[in-house]
Amino acid sequence: MHVRFITRNGETVEAEGSAGTSLLELGQAAGMPLEGTCEGQMACSTCHVIVAQEWFAQLPPASEDEEDMLDLAPGVCATSRLSCQIDLVDELDGLTVRIPPTSHDMQRG
Ligand code: FES
Repeated sequence: MHVRFITRNGETVEAEGSAGTSLLELGQAAGMPLEGTCEGQMACSTCHVIVAQEWFAQLPPASEDEEDMLDLAPGVCATSRLSCQIDLVDELDGLTVRIPPTSHDMQRG
């Protein structure tokens, strides 16, 4: 299955993943700057991605713990998710997510 990452520079990176991996693992394998410091324990927010609007509703809703962590993530927006909490399934073929801007980029506007 296919996932499309949009980098901070606006470049598109296509990645091929298999069902059963997390979006975080696939992003890391594709060279995206997703640290995933806590390795999926929902204790950091370094795996934050912004999901394309048209895909957001197709993901299982975020748990309360995930929402709490997202509140702390820089550049969070309405379709933000923690990529470690998104398991790739065949239905998500074509999923598009954006790497959020760093706080530095936000200051620059
Ligand atoms: Fe830490 Fe996702 S890797 S919350």
